[in-house]
Amino acid sequence: MGQAINRIQQQGSHPINHIQVSQAEIYEGHLVLINGDNPIKRPIKEDKLLPISSNEDINELHDGMSMEKTGLQQLSALLAASEALEEVVVVSAYRTKEEQEHIYATSLVENGPVYTASYVALPDQSEHQTGLAVDVGKISRDVDFIAPSFPSNGACQTFKQLAADYGFIQRYKEGKESITKISCEPWHFRYVGYPHSRLIEEYSFCLEEYIDFVKGYTYSGDHLRFKNGSLQVEIYYVPAEVGPSTTVPIVKCDLYRLSGNNRDGFIITAFHGSEHNG
Ligand code: DAL
Ligand code: ZN
Repeated sequence: MGQAINRIQQQGSHPINHIQVSQAEIYEGHLVLINGDNPIKRPIKEDKLLPISSNEDINELHDGMSMEKTGLQQLSALLAASEALEEVVVVSAYRTKEEQEHIYATSLVENGPVYTASYVALPDQSEHQTGLAVDVGKISRDVDFIAPSFPSNGACQTFKQLAADYGFIQRYKEGKESITKISCEPWHFRYVGYPHSRLIEEYSFCLEEYIDFVKGYTYSGDHLRFKNGSLQVEIYYVPAEVGPSTTVPIVKCDLYRLSGNNRDGFIITAFHGSEHNG
């Protein structure tokens, strides 16, 4: 994906018509859907992660946590914009498969199978393993690791209200449990990038529904369009071809991003006009 952005930057305003994308990229990018039906296929590469401590202003529940680079940059900006740096602690971010196994096993013992299945994803079914998910909690003497308190008031509420502007969604919402198979988690935010975060919120979708919805917008058909001031964005889905790579058509734009959906294809986000940094 980074390579794709570099290529368009190098070529300035010249339109690019097609790029070759390897099948492995189906399983990478900010829009990967991770759940029981769509487990992790490829662990995130180390060089895409950044220690949370690289931003000294962010409180961590324990040392040594990391997160996907763009997600962390946007989390920093979101915490600052919400004036939440003093009030919020990062409880959990990137987890290895082994860490997820340990969390699941420990929760089974401490909380039992029903609670654990509701609030902890099985190893390789947790989006924490992508580095794109972050659990945040209101700072208190006793922060719960599995289900931290993140109330709908004060700086936590401002964080919730601004999250979509910075590319984040509350991943597990009330009313979507039959689709996500996870109970409502007000503390778990997932970086998907802007304007996907805004669209997901506007349509009241969960990520599963949004990924299905975007598949209805193909390169040769209608594109999903988003406008905010001078920024115009078009979004479309390109199914993966059988074979080692897929030829992906790119519309003329100022900048584009490409993400796999971790399922069967790619989502192109093409920006026209001033680029939003989320
Ligand atoms: N709490 C979420 C579901 C996870 O374990 O990934
Ligand atoms: Zn979480």
